[in-house]
Amino acid sequence: MSSSFDVERFERWRAEIGCGLGSPLTALAITGSTNDDALTAAREGAAHGTTFVADHQTSGRGRRGRSWIAEPGDGLLFSVLLRPELEPTRPGLLPPTLGLAVRAAVSELLPPALAAETRVKWPNDVWVSGRKIAGVLAESRLGGSGAVVVAGVGINLETRRFPPELEERATSFARLGVAVEREALLAQALRGLEMRLGCLSRAADEIVSELREYDGLIGRHVRVDGTDGIASGIGADGRLTLQLCNGDITQIHSGHLELLD
Ligand code: BTN
Repeated sequence: MSSSFDVERFERWRAEIGCGLGSPLTALAITGSTNDDALTAAREGAAHGTTFVADHQTSGRGRRGRSWIAEPGDGLLFSVLLRPELEPTRPGLLPPTLGLAVRAAVSELLPPALAAETRVKWPNDVWVSGRKIAGVLAESRLGGSGAVVVAGVGINLETRRFPPELEERATSFARLGVAVEREALLAQALRGLEMRLGCLSRAADEIVSELREYDGLIGRHVRVDGTDGIASGIGADGRLTLQLCNGDITQIHSGHLELLD
């Protein structure tokens, strides 16, 4: 079975927008998980930018041990292997930076009124009008040839029905009434990622400003691993700031986040 992803069309987009990531690209009709494909390739010495895209995954993974389930062809499912040249001075910024790149790509392909409603829900979910349209799973490994990060991204394209527990919290391009070319979306996401990775090592404050501009949690009542508070912004190191009920401020590095309002 061949993939429905048009590699030649993707190459045209990649050339047009000047994107280095996304080569070599493997387009699969079906796989277990594109993150696993990229991690295997990393162990075999694959280069920075190596990318896997699939129409369907049989064991797609989400953050915090959850599954990522999408019907065949419903999502843009891809993983890109990154070998950061420089050790980022603020490693906590990497996960939200991935979310920022995907937010920017999603917003490029939406009409302006919807693009204005795109946000990142810390650390890296992408929301449109408060509903999740994309998620990112970053997995890192330290090997003989240095650090490797696999950034796996799932973007809801054609999904019209979600499981009942997600029905009110998820959206897709189809739900928003927007037709999208997956090859263009992948090229935009990779280009956005490439630009922001460069920024992380040269001008991390620009990333912090962008995170604050698109912070979907600011002012929201949240619970992170049992701690309740009001989300009060993103720190210069990428941590989420929480104001607790007693007025104390705490910084969250990672955790399971629930919305309480
Ligand atoms: C999340 O929101 O929990 C992250 C979801 C990440 C899903 C993508 S789909 C492509 C890649 N392969 C995987 O197994 N997971 C990521």
